[in-house]
Amino acid sequence: MAATDLRGHLVAYFEGQHKLVETDALTLLLTDRQPLVLSQQVLDRCGTGSPLVTREMVERTIELRRASRMVARAAPASVASEIALNSGSAPPFALLTEGFSPPVPNRDPLEAYGALFASRYQMLSRLLRGRPGLSNLRPIRELRSTEADASVIAMIRDVREVSAKRIALLTVEDPSGSTDLLVPNDAYVGRGTFLPDEVVGFTLRIAREAGKMHRVTSIERPEVPPGRATHRSDRPSRTLFLSDLHIGSRSFLSEPWARLMDFLHGRGPNAEIAETLEHVVIAGDLVDGIGIYPNQERDLAISDVVEQYAELGRRLRELPERLSIIVVPGNHDAVAPAEPQPALSAAMAAQLPTNVRSLGNPSTFALHGVVLSAYHGRGFDELIPAIPGASYGRPTDVMKRMLQMRHMAPIYGGRTPLAPLSRDGLVIEPLPDVFVTGHSHTYGVDHYRGVLLLNVSTWQGETEYQKMRNITPVPARAAIVDLATLSTTTLNFAGRECVLGGPEG
Ligand SMILES: [Fe+2]
Repeated sequence: MAATDLRGHLVAYFEGQHKLVETDALTLLLTDRQPLVLSQQVLDRCGTGSPLVTREMVERTIELRRASRMVARAAPASVASEIALNSGSAPPFALLTEGFSPPVPNRDPLEAYGALFASRYQMLSRLLRGRPGLSNLRPIRELRSTEADASVIAMIRDVREVSAKRIALLTVEDPSGSTDLLVPNDAYVGRGTFLPDEVVGFTLRIAREAGKMHRVTSIERPEVPPGRATHRSDRPSRTLFLSDLHIGSRSFLSEPWARLMDFLHGRGPNAEIAETLEHVVIAGDLVDGIGIYPNQERDLAISDVVEQYAELGRRLRELPERLSIIVVPGNHDAVAPAEPQPALSAAMAAQLPTNVRSLGNPSTFALHGVVLSAYHGRGFDELIPAIPGASYGRPTDVMKRMLQMRHMAPIYGGRTPLAPLSRDGLVIEPLPDVFVTGHSHTYGVDHYRGVLLLNVSTWQGETEYQKMRNITPVPARAAIVDLATLSTTTLNFAGRECVLGGPEG
């Protein structure tokens, strides 16, 4: 992203938060290594009091950050890229934010989770505050004393459906307290599904009598704002998207992989497309790992995890050396399983060629100014059972719901472990132009309010464990995105030769 683009992006970001940013403040923000993260911290610190963001506010936030050592660990790559962001030319790669931030040492787990949820509420309520649809906004504890109609921004603690009456009863909370809400089926609001731990704006008809519940009359989710400006590369550049290689599995699809390598080296048809590729993004489950599910050892061709990464290194060296490869881990990789996950350890990353950039899961970065979020997608395991009609076969439908909530995995206490970090790194902020996931081992391309959604297959055939879980993979697909237009081409290597498809593959 060129410096002018980043400047515009920051102005738009503050406008989205109903703030005007002074020129001096903006200039100072742009000198920081992570201007977007610093902007979020300025808003966190300054709250809703002033409509202006001043240079003094930014200075004070920087001082506070220094004093409390709040600076998130930044990989050398991110430092270099952020410097490049300010150098005036759109760099091929710029890290915007990693979901993972170092945990506070020796913190009581209860306190740590409290900080995580407070961070989620703060980040998402900021997106909702000031919406015309949320008039007469009040803290929950003040509701009884207000007039007939009011709004709250709250995190859903509990959802109960009363099927006989087809209504939902919600227990919601904000920093001031909690309350029960009745969601009638006759209004627009009754047709949506509410998920535990998502943050939603509610407009309410206030109950006047004790013992009666406030009635929801409409809702607002954080959402993708309609008509949002998106980014395009000002030069031709294509990116290849892959996921779920599962190196080390007996079911690794070496023949389709060999056909992918032929394609990338321009051997055979469609060489002109391969020539214009510059980046490769791999959305996790780089290796099959060990001990990830019961009796996995039966499915492994390589049973030593270090050896699996050595083999991953060999496989990635088969790609043309000129390609820049960006990887994030998944739930099969050898990093802490709780999300957000850190990048691969130095020992594992050392097995990979030097053209590989290893980031945490999720991560948001810019390629020639186009903003991408790469998330492995373990949140699907929680969201699919919770959303009526959702399935692993249609992963992009679930990704739309993630964008509506502006969160990748909100539900706490299920199969997706959440790391108790001070900043909720699974909140989708900033919004990407391209949102890529894996994990489902299926394939999907779609759009939602200007965001290109990709779920990019797997290079592992069906395992016994997947048969047992009724998961039918759609393997050996890849997506190529032209960053100048965001048009997508699907490549199918499952047959005897590479087949080029349209956006749906
Ligand atoms: Fe996987």
